[in-house]
Amino acid sequence: MADKRLTTLALKEMKQKNEKIAMITAYDYPTAQLVDEAGAETILVGDSLGNVVLGYKDTLSVTLDDMIHHGSAAVRGSERALVIVDMPFLTYQVNAEDALRNAGRIIQQTGAQAVKVEGGLEIIDAVKSMTQTGIPVVGHLGLTPQSVGQLGGYRVQGRDPTVARKIIEDAFALEAAGAFMVVLECVPWQLAKIVTEKLSIPVIGIGAGKFCDGQVLVYHDVMGLYTGKRPKFVKQYAPARDVMLKGVHEYISEVKDSSFPEERHTYTMSEEALAGLLEG
Ligand code: KIV
Repeated sequence: MADKRLTTLALKEMKQKNEKIAMITAYDYPTAQLVDEAGAETILVGDSLGNVVLGYKDTLSVTLDDMIHHGSAAVRGSERALVIVDMPFLTYQVNAEDALRNAGRIIQQTGAQAVKVEGGLEIIDAVKSMTQTGIPVVGHLGLTPQSVGQLGGYRVQGRDPTVARKIIEDAFALEAAGAFMVVLECVPWQLAKIVTEKLSIPVIGIGAGKFCDGQVLVYHDVMGLYTGKRPKFVKQYAPARDVMLKGVHEYISEVKDSSFPEERHTYTMSEEALAGLLEG
């Protein structure tokens, strides 16, 4: 069967044609099916998995095996979207060899099309070793949650010229190292606009204003499924948690008052078979 997946080249062409790219996270088969059917061009199996699915306080505890487990489910659930899997903390920062081996495991064992890494110049050798081996890489700059301790919390990055300049340099370095896309998180819109205009690869924003080539949000935020702190840049598009909670409440109450299961949910044995059972 011909591969229907969008390619890195198709996404680059979208930038050139000024067509916005929609990216959303998914961590499992049914969610990947849903966002793929809805038309998202890319699915990010983010290490936000740690926060919104696994219940950790941050992304640092997420492992390579976690990402491979969830990444492969997202690939099985999707047909058209290009699937990007996050490389978790310490799987690419130690050295370029390690990074290549771990990225290779993700690509081989999940079937995903690309990996994403956080950082710029400090991880550039790792990025080069992956892209030179043929692994498509997405960079992630600005608020990089794997460095939350060093950044002093989840806060806007690049409001001052020194940090803003470093983000621009890092973006250039990622493009030069062969990254095919950059995610910019939680930066002033003016900085995101400059980076988007300067790079020839697509820049996807999250909390980075409307001038990026596309946007990414966490599925659980979009659907109102996450009960933790919600950043200013999140927009909830559907009250899925309310609908789901109502459904579970109704189920429990029908179990308690015996109104579920009804006859139509029940299997019946013939009279003769029942008589035979009772006799024997
Ligand atoms: O892990 C994630 O979901 C991400 C997005 C927030 C960009 O990296």
